[in-house]
Amino acid sequence: MTTTRVLTGITTTGTPHLGNYVGAIRPAIAASQQPDVEAYLFLADFHALIKNQNPDEVAQSSREIAATWLALGLDPEHSFFYRQSDIPEITELSWILSCSAAKGLMNRAHAYKASVQANEAAGEDPDFGTTMGLFSYPVLMAADILIFNAHRVPVGRDQIQHVEMARDIAQRFNHHYGPIFTLPEAVVDDHVAILQGLDGRKMSKSYGNTIPLFGTPKQLQKSINKIKTNLLEPGEPKDADDATVFQIWCAFADEAERQQMRQAFADGIGWGDAKRQLFERVNDELLPARERYERLMADPGQLESILQAGAARLRPQSSALMERVRDATGLRPYR
Ligand code: TRP
Repeated sequence: MTTTRVLTGITTTGTPHLGNYVGAIRPAIAASQQPDVEAYLFLADFHALIKNQNPDEVAQSSREIAATWLALGLDPEHSFFYRQSDIPEITELSWILSCSAAKGLMNRAHAYKASVQANEAAGEDPDFGTTMGLFSYPVLMAADILIFNAHRVPVGRDQIQHVEMARDIAQRFNHHYGPIFTLPEAVVDDHVAILQGLDGRKMSKSYGNTIPLFGTPKQLQKSINKIKTNLLEPGEPKDADDATVFQIWCAFADEAERQQMRQAFADGIGWGDAKRQLFERVNDELLPARERYERLMADPGQLESILQAGAARLRPQSSALMERVRDATGLRPYR
């Protein structure tokens, strides 16, 4: 059996919400359980510094996200779960790759281009507020991927370009120094649900329309009650396909339950009733994980040792690769 190395990073900013769970966490954990897959899942905390320079928020978010993934069933013994900042070879490789990465390629990265365009529109200097971190973000991401010679990199659409850049950088390096790196491929899952938020748009922190994953049941109920609906009364037939309540229901229900709810909408279920059922369904699914989450958040030492163990298992691999890279590039001991 050949194993495929599947690697993905989670930028540690913000607090995880239902959209993250349905769109990223749940499918990634399921994929990590496949027998022919070696899963590398890491907390991209160096990347977090690009977006957030508040130390307490950075620390808190990293801890919450680590606890979230473990609480939801990521098995740290049968996958590699680690913090980017615990693998020093990643930053070392990042520098070396930056010497193979064309600046013109980085100029075309979406995040940087968007910032330049916004500055130009505002009549500012094009690079106003741009750090070198934002500019070289794709090089660090290439190092994340190439350090473990990942085959496949599951990402959202916005990240495809970055994986292609990693491939490009790897190709240039290999061409110049010899075949060291595996060329990674981006994988985008078109079937993964993009959850709607409270206002019916995509659930996203930047829209402020999220439902937090591990609030108290009361908070969950309150959020669900805020989901936008129309003014139809109980007894009036409702269009399930037009309802965020139904869309979220579908992300948590099996096929039979979806059919039942679709029928209930046609039969005129009241919004309050539909929301109560949605709350119960989501709460039931998350309840055991919430308890694990709370235990992990209350025991930072345990979280820390899980992550340290993850890094310790990987360092032999990352060091061996870095040794080859150093040798290939001529950074050799004198002899
Ligand atoms: N940039 C990715 C994001 O914002 C996170 C990330 C960092 C990543 N390094 C990675 C994803 C390496 C895949 C592979 O979503």
